[in-house]
Amino acid sequence: MSRLAGKTALITGAARGIGRAFAEAYIREGARVAIGDVDLARATETASEIGAFAVHMDVTDQASIDAAVAATAAEFGQIDILINNAALFTAAPIVEITREDYARVFDVNFGGTLFTLQAVAKHMIEAGVRGRIINMASQAGRRGESLVAVYCATKAAVISLTQSAGLNLIQHGINVNAISPGVVDGEHWDGVDAFFAKYENKAPGQKKKEVGASVPYGRMGVADDLTGMAVFLASDEAEYIVAQTYNVDGGQWMS
Ligand SMILES: NC(=O)c1ccc[n+]([C@@H]2O[C@H](COP(=O)([O-])OP(=O)(O)OC[C@H]3O[C@@H](n4cnc5c(N)ncnc54)[C@H](O)[C@@H]3O)[C@@H](O)[C@H]2O)c1
Repeated sequence: MSRLAGKTALITGAARGIGRAFAEAYIREGARVAIGDVDLARATETASEIGAFAVHMDVTDQASIDAAVAATAAEFGQIDILINNAALFTAAPIVEITREDYARVFDVNFGGTLFTLQAVAKHMIEAGVRGRIINMASQAGRRGESLVAVYCATKAAVISLTQSAGLNLIQHGINVNAISPGVVDGEHWDGVDAFFAKYENKAPGQKKKEVGASVPYGRMGVADDLTGMAVFLASDEAEYIVAQTYNVDGGQWMS
């Protein structure tokens, strides 16, 4: 359990959910971890529970990104691994999508991923770090969904960015890849369930049951189903993997 011994990682949106599970798994593997989250109170609580470093970070604000990257580098000496995990979900029929909601969600899911990746890549290049960057995509980025146009488009954009950044940054020894989960139980999916309760007239919890039953594996994912891939992509074993997006979804999507 020391595949990341001596490594340091910044994980955005790790105050809860999948990001928190990544932080715990990285710490188990010997890494030091910074949790960068807009919810500083929750990040601080999580960090004290798992032995991480909490830093306020709003991935829609360049000054906040730069400050969080600088604070993490100062705390650990350098940043070896970035996981771009922070994201928001939204859903609406096409005719009800608003410019405000589109801008809010794209700014976090795509802009936040792009400009955090950029800031950490600059740090890695300046510090001479052969780093790893992992972006969180989604099965929602593999195809459109009737009520989920904006969120799906942000995740398709993350898959595309992973390819472009992977190709551009490998010359500096920085490997960029992505993980594409399917449906993962937790607070995020409680919010998703509420959207479907509204738009598909379902009882609370019904959509969750339906999506869980439709996963080939036989249940919804849990955050710990994803940690193996996150550790692997940050480890020495993944040195020759560049610009890829891996499905970790119980068989939902094949590509
Ligand atoms: N849960 C799923 O079913 C699922 C499926 C596919 C992909 N994903 C992706 O996995 C990642 C993690 O999902 P999750 O279920 O843990 O989500 P979550 O909603 O539980 O956690 C998201 C975290 O991001 C933080 N955040 C939100 N806006 C931010 C901002 N502007 N700056 C910094 N932090 C911000 C939140 O405070 C929260 O801690 C996301 O990228 C999500 O799109 C999740």
